[in-house]
Amino acid sequence: MDSACGNARGSAAERRGFSVLKPFASLLLAAATLVATNARAADPGAGKNVYQRCAICHRADKGGGNGLGPNLFGIVGRKAGTVPGFSYSAAMKNSGVVWNADKLAAYIAHPSQVVPGNRMAFAGIGNPQQVGDLVAYLATLK
Ligand code: HEC
Repeated sequence: MDSACGNARGSAAERRGFSVLKPFASLLLAAATLVATNARAADPGAGKNVYQRCAICHRADKGGGNGLGPNLFGIVGRKAGTVPGFSYSAAMKNSGVVWNADKLAAYIAHPSQVVPGNRMAFAGIGNPQQVGDLVAYLATLK
């Protein structure tokens, strides 16, 4: 009985203490989330510069042709291996991948891991900020 009362008093005190700390706690949480995700939001303008690394092989103009790689206009939301007139590897054609932003980011970072056996001769981009910027830029091509 006594200890139950003690607990009740204790938790009421904790609640009071927490209500004082609560604004700081949510501030800390917001800061931690910012650090954990990105120092800044993805920037399509910066992504356009990163895209220069893709442009040697990929065109990205509407109705434009293919290069060494398939045209990337409208890539976000598109099913993998479906650009007409491009001769894909079986690995890409049969991957079943739909290029949403997450899948695209993963592929750009590690092409050979995300679609094993695909023919894109590109090692991947290690900087997550650059990958995020690039995906934001690709999303504007529609
Ligand atoms: C050396 C040439 C080359 C470079 C550089 C290159 N790619 Fe590719 N990419 C290819 C080829 C070839 C394929 C087709 C792969 C296959 O069929 O297996 C491809 C396929 C793709 C696909 C799948 C397209 C579809 O229609 O399913 C995406 C997305 C892609 N590349 C994005 C990029 C991005 C973004 C970059 C720049 C970071 C890049 N690529 C750099 C050659 C390249």
